[in-house]
Amino acid sequence: MGESVPRHVAIIMDGNGRWAENKLLGRIRGHVAGVSAVRKIVRRANDRGVRYLTLFAFSSENWNRPRTEVAALMQLMKFNLRREAKELAENNVRVRLLGDRSMLPEPALKAAEEAEEITKSSTGMELVLAISYGGRDEILEGVKGLIREGVKEEEVTEKRLREHFYLPDLPDPDLVIRTSGEYRISNFLLWQIAYSELYFTDLYWPDFDEKEFDRALEVFASRERRFGKTSAQVEREKSV
Ligand code: IPE
Ligand code: IPE
Ligand code: MG
Repeated sequence: MGESVPRHVAIIMDGNGRWAENKLLGRIRGHVAGVSAVRKIVRRANDRGVRYLTLFAFSSENWNRPRTEVAALMQLMKFNLRREAKELAENNVRVRLLGDRSMLPEPALKAAEEAEEITKSSTGMELVLAISYGGRDEILEGVKGLIREGVKEEEVTEKRLREHFYLPDLPDPDLVIRTSGEYRISNFLLWQIAYSELYFTDLYWPDFDEKEFDRALEVFASRERRFGKTSAQVEREKSV
């Protein structure tokens, strides 16, 4: 049996568009429904004692979507960050932005940075919002940072590379969940998921609820994480 509750859960919230299309609604309605699911899952994760919840809200490739959809997504993020920041602070949740801030339109960036500011002294769960995030971009940022520092070849370590990531202190996810029946990573946390447990569900993101989240946590608890070792070694380590 693994750790009972994962410290860091990261979610690829996929399927808003198809959820809406199946109901003969526009894609934007799907994104609006997706926000309600976010609210439920944030609350549940906090209640279950998850320390870090990372939500993939917008990828570096999502900029290539139709302009109207991108604009609607940015509006939604701005609106909801403004609306929720105070309540998140009251619930001791800290908001942090993960991604390329320079790409964000000013109002969305401002709302995100205000949410970070309003919740900065929270000591409870960290809600990490991956917006304009690309795993390859982040690794490139790390490489550029090392070059800027003038690090010598023999001084290059995983630890030093990580120091140049967007959030250097963010631990690796223990569990990655992807909704919508797609079995891929889509440029989400590439470096950090080396040993994460992966969980896939066919549900579209707006249909993912507290019960489904609990189910994912249950599956996680039943997995054995070996980190390259043998099962016998893992058992022995646990008993000391
Ligand atoms: C996920 O839902 C939300 C974002 C990527 C912003 P999609 O919009 O990708 O929904 P599908 O995959 O088209 O159904
Ligand atoms: C991944 O979903 C990104 C987010 C959920 C924000 P996509 O819908 O962009 O992924 P692909 O294009 O199906 O791989
Ligand atoms: Mg999608």
